[in-house]
Amino acid sequence: MRIVSGIQPTGNLHLGNYLGAIRNWVRMQDEWSAKGGQCLYFLADLHAISMPHSPAELAANTREMVAALVSCGIDPDKSILFNQAQVPAHAELQWLLNGTARMGWLNRMTQWKDKAGKNREGASVALFTYPVLQAADVLLYQATHVPVGEDQKQHLELARDIAQKFNNDFCPEDAPLFTLPDPIIPPEAARIMSLRDGSAKMSKSDPSDMSRINLTDDADAIMQKVKKAKTDPEPLPGTVEGLAGRPEANNLVGIYAAMAGISPAEVLTQFEGKGFGQFKPALGELLVETLSPMAARYRQLREDGEALDAILAKGALKARDLAAPTLAKTYQALGL
Ligand code: ADP
Ligand code: NA
Repeated sequence: MRIVSGIQPTGNLHLGNYLGAIRNWVRMQDEWSAKGGQCLYFLADLHAISMPHSPAELAANTREMVAALVSCGIDPDKSILFNQAQVPAHAELQWLLNGTARMGWLNRMTQWKDKAGKNREGASVALFTYPVLQAADVLLYQATHVPVGEDQKQHLELARDIAQKFNNDFCPEDAPLFTLPDPIIPPEAARIMSLRDGSAKMSKSDPSDMSRINLTDDADAIMQKVKKAKTDPEPLPGTVEGLAGRPEANNLVGIYAAMAGISPAEVLTQFEGKGFGQFKPALGELLVETLSPMAARYRQLREDGEALDAILAKGALKARDLAAPTLAKTYQALGL
């Protein structure tokens, strides 16, 4: 049992990234390694060049993302954590699979249609073929399972189609080369909204720093931001239905629930009838308690370029070893 999953390198990480993405990876790592499975987690830096990008920012974001992942609980001894660019087999296998993937298949990808928009002529070739790189990312390691959100289901189907066609065209019937990976639907991730506007997503691109809790914030900053968070004057209701039409209250209750690992209904049972004068300090303390150890580690690690490079180098070595046999067999099957 082997899971392969990629994440876009991004900097300035915040509570939304933690609850919406990173925490699921940590949970998956812990669940799967307990069952004797293995998780390969990679930073999708090769994918990042399919869109206009700044090289300096990409390099910095890749390191920041590693720092965040490790601080939040990804253990480079339990999981294989690496960046694509250091494992040339990803790009090599993509080229080899380009011979099997069909133009028509890629033309049907809705992500391609969405991202290229009306400017197809101006889109990079990489944007068109990146689903083939995604196929290579997972087939290279004989992944049995791939976590996919709604928007990536079609790409996993494509990976299976490519694997199947390759197996049919180039392998003896009793010795297929590629494993067809099954999707796993990740548990629905919390969607965290801005602390200043309950209708906007918490995001690093919001100009107001008060709108988000950064993974670098210290205890004072967290308490301040929660205290200043936009709310309404009503006390908390006893049921989730009572939060309807109250996006800010709903968001704060949702954050509390996600951090405490309980349901919003349970939070409301605990705080029914209480005003934000009481709820906010409780939420602030819960956030400080949970985030502080991670934040301290993140602040320290993101300054330590050598440690981060060492983590990535070690992960790349392991990934290259795992990839080598499949890559060699692919060349061979193609007569190369
Ligand atoms: P940002 O919106 O700050 O630019 P990214 O787009 O780089 O964040 O997102 C990186 C990952 O974090 C994605 O998996 C995304 O779904 C998740 N994420 C980002 N913001 C939030 C949020 N407010 N709530 C839940 N998940 C989020
Ligand atoms: Na974004």
